[in-house]
Amino acid sequence: MSFIRKIPFISGLFQTSPPYHTGKVWENKVGLQLVRVIGRNFLHNLGSRRKVSEPYTQYAKILEAEGVVEIPQFLSQEDWAKVRGEYDAYKSKLVFEAYKPSGKVSMMAARLSLDKHPQDFPETIRIMRDNKILKEMAEMALKKDMSKYKPTLSYLVLHKDDNDEYDDDIENILHADVHYPTVKCFLYLGEATKANGAYIYAKGSHKLSASRLSYEYNMSVRVAKLKRGDKDIPAKYLDKRGSIVRNIMSEEQRKAMGVVETQFVGPGNTLIVTNNIGFHRRGEFEPNQTRETLLVNFRSVESSKLRKFLNK
Ligand SMILES: [Fe+2]
Repeated sequence: MSFIRKIPFISGLFQTSPPYHTGKVWENKVGLQLVRVIGRNFLHNLGSRRKVSEPYTQYAKILEAEGVVEIPQFLSQEDWAKVRGEYDAYKSKLVFEAYKPSGKVSMMAARLSLDKHPQDFPETIRIMRDNKILKEMAEMALKKDMSKYKPTLSYLVLHKDDNDEYDDDIENILHADVHYPTVKCFLYLGEATKANGAYIYAKGSHKLSASRLSYEYNMSVRVAKLKRGDKDIPAKYLDKRGSIVRNIMSEEQRKAMGVVETQFVGPGNTLIVTNNIGFHRRGEFEPNQTRETLLVNFRSVESSKLRKFLNK
């Protein structure tokens, strides 16, 4: 089926869920990304409005209005002790590696899929994967029935070494994950602070606007140009982490979209629900800092029967 992959405008279909910027420079110059953004969000808006049960209705309203919400003391003391207890029991077996290999390494991450180790995490899986409130929050933000869907669960433990000069953390660059609503939840397993890079989100940036469309168009062309190896992208549009060069939002684009960053610090058992069509990033880690999170990801709900067939 390799010849189909080369047909203009549809290469993105060959990924299990719709990728963010994709396609060639000329495809994006004639508006591929604009069609993708408008099309996806049109389909999203055809979905029906859904409700979140009490006492979480107020939090759901914040998620809807701002694209992100923080829920302190999310789990009952009993459930929190079980979730934290299973993490503590496994912690010493976690394996750290470069977050994003790029020459010299300072930012390390241990990632573990809990779904692949169900025998070690029965309580966490019961409490978090089958969580009614998380599912309702995702249903509301995605306007989708998720009754047959299960999110994925993973630990993400981040650690920066003692190097305070060198920044190889690609995730502290402000970005959106995709161009359509997508939901992730983070349960802080330990305290998240400014020093250990607590999550940052630009409230309200999940909403489409003329300036966001203009950004999408500009960014899609730049991403394709960088991929092609073009050297004429202006410096104000580029940044570097380790040896990796990335396209970034310019100051003008930031102002046009009214981007204001908020950092979500909080103790263990704080839950963050975030719609990552909006702009977000990791805070800057100080040396010798660690942050422990449990990620509940609803991302793969974006796959379709066609995508599953094409990517078999
Ligand atoms: Fe992200």
